[in-house]
Amino acid sequence: MNKLKIPPKIEKDFEANSKVTFTNNPPEYLLAVAREYGEIVRFSFGPFRFMLVSNPDMVREVLITQAKKFPKAERDVRLLSRVLGKGLVTTNGDHHKRQRRLAQPAFHHRRIASYADTISEYARITADKLSAGSTINIVEEMESLTMYIVSKTLFDVDMDEMVGKSTDIAHAIDELQTIADKNMDRIVNLPYWFPTRDNRRNWRARNILDSTISKIMDDRRQASIDGVAADTGDLLSMLMMAEDEDGSSMDDVEIRDQLLTLFMAGHETTSNALLWTWYLLSQHPEVEAKMHAEIDEVLDGRLPTMEDLSSLTYTEMVLKESMRILPPVWMLNARKAIEDTEILGYHVPKGTQIFVAPYVIHNLEENYPNPSEFDPERFNPENAEQIHKYAWLPFGAGGRVCIGNSFAMMEAKLILATYAQRFRFRLDPTESVRLQARITMTNYQGMQMQVVGRDFDGDDIDHVFEPDRVEVI
Ligand code: HEM
Repeated sequence: MNKLKIPPKIEKDFEANSKVTFTNNPPEYLLAVAREYGEIVRFSFGPFRFMLVSNPDMVREVLITQAKKFPKAERDVRLLSRVLGKGLVTTNGDHHKRQRRLAQPAFHHRRIASYADTISEYARITADKLSAGSTINIVEEMESLTMYIVSKTLFDVDMDEMVGKSTDIAHAIDELQTIADKNMDRIVNLPYWFPTRDNRRNWRARNILDSTISKIMDDRRQASIDGVAADTGDLLSMLMMAEDEDGSSMDDVEIRDQLLTLFMAGHETTSNALLWTWYLLSQHPEVEAKMHAEIDEVLDGRLPTMEDLSSLTYTEMVLKESMRILPPVWMLNARKAIEDTEILGYHVPKGTQIFVAPYVIHNLEENYPNPSEFDPERFNPENAEQIHKYAWLPFGAGGRVCIGNSFAMMEAKLILATYAQRFRFRLDPTESVRLQARITMTNYQGMQMQVVGRDFDGDDIDHVFEPDRVEVI
């Protein structure tokens, strides 16, 4: 047997000379590490041992070929379950497989397709409220829209009902994200039952979300006939009706945690994908013009439908390129080797945590020439064939690939097409890009953008995206 290689270790000199650190700028730090050390590199943080893997063939080993040896690290799972309960994101092994089997039918192509008209209609209603010449926080705009959409499609709760509650819910989510982030950064966390200040904040925020979801479930049970929930066309009905191979179904806590997970995973990610797409379009008027031409030709002023999506090919290329350069999930949950193993000739000791970071893989010259250039043509059918299957990972890969990926692509395209028929967005002169790399990657305190009519010309763009100039919070 060939002798296994030991991956290089990050040297003290590199740390000392690096402009950015893991604490103040994790995405750019890991990118710099991968550029310096190559496809696999090891480092430690307190008692934890890590490896960053950025070669797509190695990614395939971790997420697919040897996935059984690399479940999600239990620390990530434990800390995230304080936010999400024990749903799809925060379970491993057989428990996860059962949940995935039960949830999968809710994401069947035909079921998802039935939500297209709701999405376009909701996008129209929110776009109707905008006026050219105003300035908006595009993060808030996209977040509330995607929250309305996920509430309607998950639980059949109408937009009008959500409008009053959405601020409280958004605040609770923000709290949970902030605390989760702090917990991830700490080497040691006190148990969840211990009344630390952050745990108490976490309990309060979870209470708001749990009680909102429990109320929705109670209402649905009351509306059921002989204890059988009616199919109201939403994902909740599918989860309530789902039966496993042995005839068992999800109990109330499982359904609640699943809904919480889908609600949380299902709107901020899409909203951040849209944030970065609007931002990148604002910096590249030539791309924007081409996308407008396609949308105008396909739709001729009407709202987009499911049938139009296959004709909006350039719009899809824009979205894919945006999620390449600024992936909303910038790093997957850490995986952990549960036994001594190897990755393509490198020794990986038991207990090592593996980082797979889409932001890093997507911004390496080896995977994408001129990676900081925003060029949707990379994803035209001919060029896309040249891209390694595991070099484009905004939705992850393998058995834990995003269950909502088709939903998200459909939703984002419909929203882009609806808004772009009427408006463009331009970065407000007071605004700058301040990447905030939490569980998802957003802009710190949102992004102020000017709403401009489609007849606007005379772009004066001076905020071009250059990762080195980007301040990271
Ligand atoms: C642009 C939007 C989205 C992005 C970029 C995104 C990204 C991701 C990624 C990268 C993962 C894998 C994480 C890992 O392997 O550690 C994931 C998992 C997941 N996503 Fe998404 N997601 C998006 C939209 C959605 C939507 C709309 C839903 C549901 C309505 C959703 C629900 C989930 C769930 C439940 C998982 C866990 C799957 C499992 O472990 O079996 N996501 N997502």
